[in-house]
Amino acid sequence: MFSGFPLFPQQASTFAARVDALYFFLIGISAFFSTLIATLLVVFTVRFRRRAAGELPKPIHGSIALELTWTVIPLVISLGTFVWSADIFVASRRVPPGAMEVNVVGKRWMWKTQHMTGQREINELHVPIGVPVRLTMTSEDVIHSFFIPAFRVKQDAVPGRYTTAWFEATKVGEYHLFCAEYCGTKHSQMIGSIKVMEPAAFQTWLAGGATGSPAQEGEKLFQSLACITCHRADSQGRGPRLEGLFGRTVRLTGGATVVADADYIRESILSPTAKVVDGYQPIMPTFQGLVSEEGVMQLIAYIQSLQQPGAEATVVPGAGGIKLQEGVPKR
Ligand code: CUA
Repeated sequence: MFSGFPLFPQQASTFAARVDALYFFLIGISAFFSTLIATLLVVFTVRFRRRAAGELPKPIHGSIALELTWTVIPLVISLGTFVWSADIFVASRRVPPGAMEVNVVGKRWMWKTQHMTGQREINELHVPIGVPVRLTMTSEDVIHSFFIPAFRVKQDAVPGRYTTAWFEATKVGEYHLFCAEYCGTKHSQMIGSIKVMEPAAFQTWLAGGATGSPAQEGEKLFQSLACITCHRADSQGRGPRLEGLFGRTVRLTGGATVVADADYIRESILSPTAKVVDGYQPIMPTFQGLVSEEGVMQLIAYIQSLQQPGAEATVVPGAGGIKLQEGVPKR
């Protein structure tokens, strides 16, 4: 439907048709009631006009049937719309297991993406058809918004935190990527393309041009920033051990607990004193300004890759893609 209509973007993801159906329903409902009201306005104006000087209308003392009708019909329509859109919204937030992970960093005025296998792209993203892709995104400066009209995907990239979005492409082709949040002089040039490929072609593309994976680059950063001097694997360091940390619940000074997810690790790198692990001193310096957002994402990927001995690694949704299975030995 509407695929031949030039003003309407293509439908190229599993969501597109669902979002459009809701959109056209809302447009239809609005058009129907606008027309109805406008027509009745004209009809009533003519029909109930004053025909003789001094004419008085007959008083009306209410109508239960009428009251019920104009209460129940809008109620059913609005509740129905709510349930329908909530269903789409929940599906758009729930990433299917096994999704391919991609990190996205917005920066005035470009999009930087990195695959877990190491490929980096600028203002481009290659993805295979029929595979759910999860984007973990942040911004190095101001709020940007990652918008792929053909997929009906739009998600803000916000400085200081991670946001996520996911999609599954259904058509091979090249699709526009826009920044949908005004971010300065060249906002309108912060554009790119999403290239959807057949799985075999995607594998061929993947085979060329890989640099180190985010976890490998994170390991290099971990050493060059000298994190290793305090976060040692032998429990003798001044900082907590990081093996098997990701996804675990951590006890903090003061008794509170926090799950060691990407946001927590990011905060611990940039604002180390915000949450201090129980039993440790708040002596870690901040790395704000010393490591880029991409670097932080790589450090997180590296920390995720640090397994407790004997734990089984699987790829599950989460920045960096690696997370420990249930049954991990807890300290
Ligand atoms: Cu980035 Cu607008």
